[in-house]
Amino acid sequence: MNFVCENSPNNGKCDHLNPLSQKRKKIADDSKGHELSLFCVPKHYEEDLDSVIIPSGLIKDRTERLARDIVRDMGGHHIVALCVLKGGYKFFADLMDYIKTLNQNSDKSVPLTVDFIRLKSYSNDQSTNCVKVIGGDELSALTGKNVLIVEDIVETGKTMETLLKLLNECHPKMVKVVSLLVKRTPRSSGYRPDYIGFEVPDKFLVGYALDYNEYFRDLSHICILSDRAKEKYKV
Ligand code: IMP
Ligand code: MG
Repeated sequence: MNFVCENSPNNGKCDHLNPLSQKRKKIADDSKGHELSLFCVPKHYEEDLDSVIIPSGLIKDRTERLARDIVRDMGGHHIVALCVLKGGYKFFADLMDYIKTLNQNSDKSVPLTVDFIRLKSYSNDQSTNCVKVIGGDELSALTGKNVLIVEDIVETGKTMETLLKLLNECHPKMVKVVSLLVKRTPRSSGYRPDYIGFEVPDKFLVGYALDYNEYFRDLSHICILSDRAKEKYKV
């Protein structure tokens, strides 16, 4: 959750929670990514992608560190990890594995349970103002719990702001948000998650469960979608 300090010189944000001081791996706007032919990409998508922007190995390494930071901060409490479907499922599964490994190998461990919610806010490559809950567990089960929301990507921030509002109506004890990606975009509402894997340029990204109209979830690396593919898979 984002906290606001009154009388703070920093636009109302606490310095120690200043979004700009949050650790994340920044990928520059002019980054061309990695040539596709250097990596294994399914044949059926070869013509649809401009480049690999985050190889799956780097995603895993960054996720391992996020798991460590989360356990450090939330250690000692029971965590309910809430996976935002469908895009969050790969990141969620890998993050849970790393937290499990830490739990198994340290003196400090967190009991972990999982919940799922399915949201929809996208049409083709456009974020819409209408965020719908279209399935999943009842949020009322999260009353009094320490909840870690696990999301694939924050773009405008509307999806997460809507979910946080819904969740807060159920009075959880604590809510933290981890997002693998945050897009640098002028369309952002200013919302920043508590934990961020990578900050990425304002391009449409697919792979590692991020989709374009349900395609490209079966791609291991995070890639830049080509303009041609946006037309090809348009609904
Ligand atoms: P927001 O409400 O604009 O922050 O959008 C968040 C949701 O839109 C994410 O959870 C994704 O499901 C989807 N989304 C935003 N950008 C991308 C993208 O580049 N690729 C795939 N999905 C995206
Ligand atoms: Mg999502």
